[in-house]
Amino acid sequence: MNILDCNELKKSLWACGVDLRTYGRIDSTNSEAKRIAQSERPRRPILFVAETQTAGRGRSGNSFYSAKDCGAYFSLLLPVKEVAESVCLTSIAAVAVFRAVRAVFGLETGIKWVNDLYWNGKKVCGILCEGVTDSIGENYVIVGVGINIASQDFPNEIKEIAGSLNADAGKRFDLIQETVSDLLELCETKDWLSDYRERSIVLDREVRFWNQDGDSCGKAVGIDESGGLEVLLPDGSRTVLRSGEIHLRCL
Ligand code: BTN
Repeated sequence: MNILDCNELKKSLWACGVDLRTYGRIDSTNSEAKRIAQSERPRRPILFVAETQTAGRGRSGNSFYSAKDCGAYFSLLLPVKEVAESVCLTSIAAVAVFRAVRAVFGLETGIKWVNDLYWNGKKVCGILCEGVTDSIGENYVIVGVGINIASQDFPNEIKEIAGSLNADAGKRFDLIQETVSDLLELCETKDWLSDYRERSIVLDREVRFWNQDGDSCGKAVGIDESGGLEVLLPDGSRTVLRSGEIHLRCL
């Protein structure tokens, strides 16, 4: 199916109260969502989907490799009252993708805190959540998701960690539709924590992280009610990580 011919996706999103905008090629669906939020101030959620991105963005200023027709690259723009109300959204989005991948491809991915999805030891999905406030104070959050469905030939700098589901990229619109409906449902029910904990690949593992004290190591021992990662430090004290990156030893 071609992106310009995804009526099924359009219809099912419409039923969930979400508008759809599609692009053959764009710089970044997150950047486009930001531009539209600022210029049009939509009051309904909009989903932006692209076949390929020329400047896909990841967390920490990284780029996101978005090979044409090989993955699902999309951003959901959600009008919200306060950006702070969406603190758990990043974890909720990971659970939504996990459930969608299982429903569409029958594959059991694992979640690496905060919201990367791994399969067969490689990262197959990244999620970038961003907040936007327009010039008159309307707030939005953007949930940007990139899933490598059939991508191969990753650039040298990411080929050690990036992987693909090795699945049928022709099902990408089903995957997108399933992810968005799961995400909206989880935002209502708030029933995401048990899957998030159960699918975690970091619990009971040694992790390395960076905070105000610099570079630290510890053991990931739990995930709290808002998705924070509880880490037991070598001196026996505990800390809770709320954001940032962690590294796993021997992933
Ligand atoms: C990460 O792994 O650091 C997050 C990657 C997020 C990539 C997706 S692809 C769709 C959306 N548009 C972007 O520019 N980024 C997100």
